[in-house]
Amino acid sequence: MDKLIIEGSRPLRGEVKISGAKNSCLPILAATLLTDDKCVIKNVPALGDVSTMLNILRSLGVDTAMQGDTITVTPTSSRNTVASYELVSTMRASVCVLGPLVAKMKKAEVSFPGGCVIGPRPIDLHLKGIKALGAKLEVKEGYIVASADKGLRGSHVYLGGHFGSSVLATANTMMAAVLARGKTIIENAACEPEVVDLANFLKKMGAKIDGIATHRLEITGVKKLKGVTYSVIPDRIETGTFIIAAGLTKGDITLKCTSSDHLNCVIDKLRESGLYIKTLKNSMRVKYKKPLKPMDITTLPYPGFPTDLQAQMTSLMSVNKGISVITEKIYPERFIHISELNRMGADIKLEGPTAIVRGVKHLSGARVMASDLRASAALILAGLVAKGRTEISRIYHLDRGYEEIEKKLNLLGAKIYRERE
Ligand code: EPU
Repeated sequence: MDKLIIEGSRPLRGEVKISGAKNSCLPILAATLLTDDKCVIKNVPALGDVSTMLNILRSLGVDTAMQGDTITVTPTSSRNTVASYELVSTMRASVCVLGPLVAKMKKAEVSFPGGCVIGPRPIDLHLKGIKALGAKLEVKEGYIVASADKGLRGSHVYLGGHFGSSVLATANTMMAAVLARGKTIIENAACEPEVVDLANFLKKMGAKIDGIATHRLEITGVKKLKGVTYSVIPDRIETGTFIIAAGLTKGDITLKCTSSDHLNCVIDKLRESGLYIKTLKNSMRVKYKKPLKPMDITTLPYPGFPTDLQAQMTSLMSVNKGISVITEKIYPERFIHISELNRMGADIKLEGPTAIVRGVKHLSGARVMASDLRASAALILAGLVAKGRTEISRIYHLDRGYEEIEKKLNLLGAKIYRERE
């Protein structure tokens, strides 16, 4: 296994190109199962999670080819409907093949997705959505076995829980509904930009979806969808991670091939704190000009502050003067990075789902362990600003979700490299 070494205390300066959104292209790749035609997906990042999704698609009988950031998906005549434990258990987003398989093939056997260190991640809402469309569902030997011999039929479904809406349950239900007979209404739909991106992809394929980007989707089923070429949106979480990196390292970074459209809440919070952020059409400049003020943040469904930037923001707060507070409302247990940040000299206390962060003068390099994707990014950010050398082990999570992060950071003046453990 590899570990990352960071020699800290270097301001980041220069330009960085943001990749396509991981959480858009995973459901979009799953949605290609809805057609018999070839699809071409552009702006796809080269990531572990994307490779996993391509392996799943191949196991389901479609050919895939990746050239640069473009993936071509071509269905073969031997389609399969079983998504195995070996593939699905490694990545939660794999459960997204359930909706398209039942809709197109009238049956599916999909392993339950794996557990996750960011807290419990049930799939009851995915099942509720697919069941509402008339599929018969059973759980057999760890697999969700779904069938709809006569095809799915439109329905009215409320996809809600105590936490708000679910991103992938909305995606799964929407993908199933586009080929169902009649009209489906999804209430309490998630309206994260990645759900909107998927809906736009499905529309381009010929799906009839109204209410995109709202909490009420109205979908009129069609008989067939066609193959299309589509480019995924920029990754808002990677963008946010680099914005935070600029603030944390007292740097000056221009982010290219991205947009501020999906990050208004994050940009607003950071501007209020004193960070200079200038947004242009496809780029933004972030420059540290003065010490940042403490912040008070709560993660919420979009357009609220994203949970996927909570850990990175905590790293920034840990060196801001004063007391900052960050409350996690989506995954109340997503705080494993805190003990690692404290090991680097941060002063963070957890009270339930709230982290109380007393800014310290500086962090110091240490040996730390990454627990999940965004926690890995938070530890890298902390390592970039810490005095001395930070060693981060278990970094395989990172390769699942950040494209060439060391290369991008080194180009900005960081000193970060891999070693074998
Ligand atoms: N939930 C349920 N039942 C369900 C589904 C979700 O109770 O059937 C709960 C979850 O436990 C959580 C909340 O709903 O408390 C929200 O979870 P959601 O379903 O929205 O999460 P997800 O769709 O599984 C996606 C992203 C996550 C991101 C969340 C929230 C992908 C592949 N994953 O997950 O991204 O944190 O939405 O925005 O799109 C990441 O990229 O690091 C990551 C974890």
